[in-house]
Amino acid sequence: MTDLKSQIIPDKVPQHIAIIMDGNGRWAKQKGMPRVLGHRSGVKSVREVTEAAGEIGVKYLTLYAFSTENWSRPPAEVTALMGLLVETIRGEIRELNKNGVRLMAIGDLEALPAESYRTLLEGMEQTKNNTRLTLVLALNYSAKWEILRAARILAEQAAAGALRPQDIDETVFESALSTRGIPDPELLIRTSGETRISNFLLWQIAYAELYFTPVFWPDFGKKELFEAILSYQRRERRFGMISEQLAR
Ligand code: IPE
Ligand code: IPE
Ligand code: MG
Repeated sequence: MTDLKSQIIPDKVPQHIAIIMDGNGRWAKQKGMPRVLGHRSGVKSVREVTEAAGEIGVKYLTLYAFSTENWSRPPAEVTALMGLLVETIRGEIRELNKNGVRLMAIGDLEALPAESYRTLLEGMEQTKNNTRLTLVLALNYSAKWEILRAARILAEQAAAGALRPQDIDETVFESALSTRGIPDPELLIRTSGETRISNFLLWQIAYAELYFTPVFWPDFGKKELFEAILSYQRRERRFGMISEQLAR
């Protein structure tokens, strides 16, 4: 582990890592346990990965915790996930403050169950002055929802005469996204072997490096995060140019 960590080039650590935390259910099933216990074990990974990210200087960590599509799951699982969210935020505030972690959230938050929403607001309020790492939870999040909302916000401003359509550029558009002010993720990780995006951060990952691992989320920890970062650091990010044009 210390060996893996020492291989990480500090100047090339991504500022922002986004993770699709997947495979809790299959992890539990494999062990003959109920799916909910997989989610519970997943919280340990959240703790470990958040700590590891802070340790190596990542500034933003965005975790996909609940998609808008996840409402279609069996009601008991949805209830358990919402309960786990409340329990986890309440239980982790002290640790977040100790580690300098600011909690944020993206998604249609007001449509969450009242207690989840309230706890989330409390968690954000109580950690708002921390500056080491920003932990962004994507909750009731859907990228298409976010993009449509941005289009609507800008259309309303234009209709009110406060914005000229020809002034809508990337910067203006980004200001209407829920991630405004947050740099785009350089690295997107998905666990559990699935190789899809599932309606996550479609705009923001335009140039992200994608990293897929078969490891189920409850088994993803510090070591796996460092491996993902090392894979990222070995890649050449060309942004449309050719290799020879890049400063070495
Ligand atoms: C990810 O694990 C957690 C959430 C989507 C909330 P899953 O619950 O999707 O686990 P699998 O994909 O069924 O194994
Ligand atoms: C995506 O995982 C959402 C989260 C990780 C919260 P899912 O397991 O719900 O995604 P699909 O449905 O398999 O694409
Ligand atoms: Mg899944």
